[in-house]
Amino acid sequence: MKYQFPVTRTQNPKTKPTDENTLGFCNHFTDHMFIMDYDEGQGWHDGRVVPYAPIPIDPASCVLHYAQMMFEGMKAYRRPDGRIQLFRPGMNAKRMARTAERMVIPELPEDILLSAVEALIKEDADWMPKAEGTSMYIRPFIFGNEISFSALPAQHYTFIVILAPCGSYYGTSSDKLSASRIYVQDTYIRAAKGGTGFAKVGGNYGGAMRASKDAKKYNCKDVLWLDAAEHKYVEEIGTCNAFFYINDEVITAPLDSGTILPGITRDSVIQLLKRWGIKVTERKLSIDEVIAAQKNGTLNEIFASGTAAVISPIGCLNIKGEDYQIADGEAGPLANRIYHDLYGIQTGKVEDYMGWTYPLDVFVKE
Ligand code: COI
Repeated sequence: MKYQFPVTRTQNPKTKPTDENTLGFCNHFTDHMFIMDYDEGQGWHDGRVVPYAPIPIDPASCVLHYAQMMFEGMKAYRRPDGRIQLFRPGMNAKRMARTAERMVIPELPEDILLSAVEALIKEDADWMPKAEGTSMYIRPFIFGNEISFSALPAQHYTFIVILAPCGSYYGTSSDKLSASRIYVQDTYIRAAKGGTGFAKVGGNYGGAMRASKDAKKYNCKDVLWLDAAEHKYVEEIGTCNAFFYINDEVITAPLDSGTILPGITRDSVIQLLKRWGIKVTERKLSIDEVIAAQKNGTLNEIFASGTAAVISPIGCLNIKGEDYQIADGEAGPLANRIYHDLYGIQTGKVEDYMGWTYPLDVFVKE
């Protein structure tokens, strides 16, 4: 079912960024936002599109203290014919439901999410960027919002969606993938079995900042996480899933430990590789196996995948202060091929041979 929501238009439209090639990641937000409330006994109610503005929040609101919150990351793309489309949004809705269950947050029905996103994009369609490598980042989030210091699930929640025209997360230039340096983190951990690693919650990211900051000491953009139990198996890269192309096999960490975020881009990469007849395996991979492959020349490529990061090649791993260059240290051919088809499908420049796109009833004028 498609919901219609009331719209209050801004009286003070912002100045839009003029150079789409220097958008960066979420440095600009659009003119409107979507907001909806939840109350126990009433359910989700009063969805509305309103001018983008700071939200008043009581200093004693439970989310500020106990972090009962969750978020999603999605993108909208502008097709060459001017129509705006989403990419596999049903998977975001399903992941939201799993996160909500883990965080004891009331589930937000898929049709509310999709109607909210469409209503907001309709209002701010003229913010859609079109330069190569850009898209509209969509950030839906929900938080417990009541005055309470009891460490218990809230009874009132706020759901908000905001939009940001953006370029790439890791600062890749718009026409060419560039490779990043990554620090292999063997002190801190991101997620343990039974924790919230599979869920999209702020705490996973807040808890990772110490490690990402330390990675900068080694001139690295982010970290490669190892498993919590043995500090032996590779898990994720920064805020992304990780793929290792060794010999003729592309390997990524399996989801069964509950410590890996089930990325929609991750799933799309796996499906594309299978479709192309490239062997892809979800299995545990030790950092020792990665080092051995680097040394014997069978480590062809490493790349990260994520909604924000899309496909981000890794040119060098730093392990305990020592650099291990991956092949020639540049973006590899497989990462480039995946990026070409994935971003091509997302933007309608490559025919959607996977059936992944979700066109909206929204068009932008040239
Ligand atoms: C995304 O890729 O959408 C994320 O939520 C990661 C975030 C750190 C930008």
